[in-house]
Amino acid sequence: MLHLRFYTALLLVPLVAGHKSYFAEFEDTIQTLQLNYFNGTTWPDAENWQTAVLDTLLAASEISITNALQEYGGNVPGENPSPSDTPNVLIQKYFSNNVDAYGGEDVGQIFGDAYDDEQWVVLEWLEVLKFIHRYDDYASSDLGKSYIDEFAHRAHIFYDDVQKAYDTSLCDGGLTWQPKLATYKNAITNELFISSSIKMYLYFPGDTNTDGMPTPNTTTVRGQPIGPLPTLQAQDPSLLDNAKKEYEWFKSHNFLNSQGLVVDGFHISAGQTQCDQRNEMVYTYNQGVLLEGLRGLWEATGDVTYLNDGYTYINSVMNATGWNNGEPKTDGQWNGLGRNGYLEDYCDMDGSCSNDAMLFKGIYFHNLNTFCEALPTDQALIPGVTTTAPSSLASSHDNTCAGYKNWVQHNADGAINSRDPTTAIIGGWWAVNSPNTDSSKRSIISKPVLPAGAVDIINQPWILATDPWKCEGVDGCLVNENISIKRSAMSSDISKRSATQYTVQTQGSGLAVIEAASDFELKPAGYWRLK
Ligand SMILES: *[C@@H]1O[C@H](CO)[C@@H](O)[C@H](O)[C@H]1NC(C)=O
Ligand SMILES: *[C@@H]1O[C@H](CO)[C@@H](O)[C@H](O)[C@H]1NC(C)=O
Ligand SMILES: *[C@@H]1O[C@H](CO)[C@@H](O)[C@H](O)[C@H]1NC(C)=O
Ligand SMILES: *[C@@H]1O[C@H](CO)[C@@H](O)[C@H](O)[C@H]1NC(C)=O
Repeated sequence: MLHLRFYTALLLVPLVAGHKSYFAEFEDTIQTLQLNYFNGTTWPDAENWQTAVLDTLLAASEISITNALQEYGGNVPGENPSPSDTPNVLIQKYFSNNVDAYGGEDVGQIFGDAYDDEQWVVLEWLEVLKFIHRYDDYASSDLGKSYIDEFAHRAHIFYDDVQKAYDTSLCDGGLTWQPKLATYKNAITNELFISSSIKMYLYFPGDTNTDGMPTPNTTTVRGQPIGPLPTLQAQDPSLLDNAKKEYEWFKSHNFLNSQGLVVDGFHISAGQTQCDQRNEMVYTYNQGVLLEGLRGLWEATGDVTYLNDGYTYINSVMNATGWNNGEPKTDGQWNGLGRNGYLEDYCDMDGSCSNDAMLFKGIYFHNLNTFCEALPTDQALIPGVTTTAPSSLASSHDNTCAGYKNWVQHNADGAINSRDPTTAIIGGWWAVNSPNTDSSKRSIISKPVLPAGAVDIINQPWILATDPWKCEGVDGCLVNENISIKRSAMSSDISKRSATQYTVQTQGSGLAVIEAASDFELKPAGYWRLK
């Protein structure tokens, strides 16, 4: 064992972040994403909801760079020494990509589609608005201000369509996933509703534009004419109420398995009204999305239960990656959601992930990083609306989050070590070069077996054409879905899979974990203080 650990250290040190800081790796990773995959208006290799996530990760990156500039008075330690691409220049460049992506976003396609897809768009534009405010706070700049109304309007249109679908007739509440399928109240759609509601409460500036059409040519949604959009003010109490009631519902509806991991969702048996058929499938993104929601709920209410719940969820995930008392296991064995301390989806190891699943780990780390931002102590985020933390709470949050640092950086090292040597694109399986999983030893481990009762609809989407997924006209099934079209569209996606996955989605996931590692490295006394 001692020998192995020593060997590992020798092997990994030159390969891991190497002589570069995580901040420099972070700068390189965004650059690689944009140079290889952004065509000036969108990321054409990504499907619609994924472009919303990639744009969110880009805006989050601009926030992290801004925070680093603020913390270090404009000179970030370890930054790449290129005068033409200083952190300030990068911010301007990537923000202009957000603006381009606004024009390039295929909103007509996403509007009226699944309720999770719509909410990624809400979170996307709220993250960009968060950046605009954060950057103004740092630089007293007008950057982006002329776009605030448009970005807010888009978030509003999509949020409004989703909130109307909240339904108490089945399972006492919650949202169904996809109106074209049989009712499936799943983790992602409902976690997103916590996050999108609270993020609307915190960052939405209000909107009086009553045009409800996402594009001039989109006149109907799910077969109905699009009506006018009700105006919505900033910090409307209904937004906070939605976030609270949705989290209460989530917590009381049995979404956790015996390892404390969030399972995928529930069907309702024929003749029943309760969520009684649980899909035991576990995905990484389902462990993450509620973290931003919990963080926001603390900001809005000051109730530390939300933070404490977040710490518990994070601990369950760290444990399920094989992270044991501050150290990674090295046996290469599956622990529920990873191995050797690396977060991993079931499909990562053999490259059987759909494009969707390849983004999941990035969504997880983006959320963890947001959750671990410093709690404000001297000035509330929004005076009169959000709370400040007593200094004891602020430091206990810092300390608890500092306990995740080694694990986050370990995962970033895995992502860095998974890069294609020629293109520098980050791969989909971060454990690929870790002990007992590298190519010489691959034969001693195997693809993890799905838990009993798990159905992997994300990576085997043809299942959606069968019972109990297929829409059979039961309650909540609104549209007569043409399953054959959906099925063929999805199977062509599957054919693009290969054993080694290096894609815009795997690069996006890599960006989020390396950004988080950089933030954890640069936060000197803990975490960013809001001004
Ligand atoms: C980028 O790709 C999209 C989708 O393929 C395409 O519609 C768009 O015109 C492209 N943009 C540019 C600037 O080439
Ligand atoms: C809307 O549809 C009309 C008629 O099909 C077409 O000429 C026009 O270019 C479309 N406008 C947009 C913004 O797509
Ligand atoms: C940690 O993970 C192990 C291995 O999967 C599991 O048996 C154990 O119950 C987990 N412990 C906690 C506290 O979640
Ligand atoms: C479903 O799609 C197929 C293939 O495009 C088409 O032939 C069929 O008519 C459609 N069925 C319905 C009910 O719309």
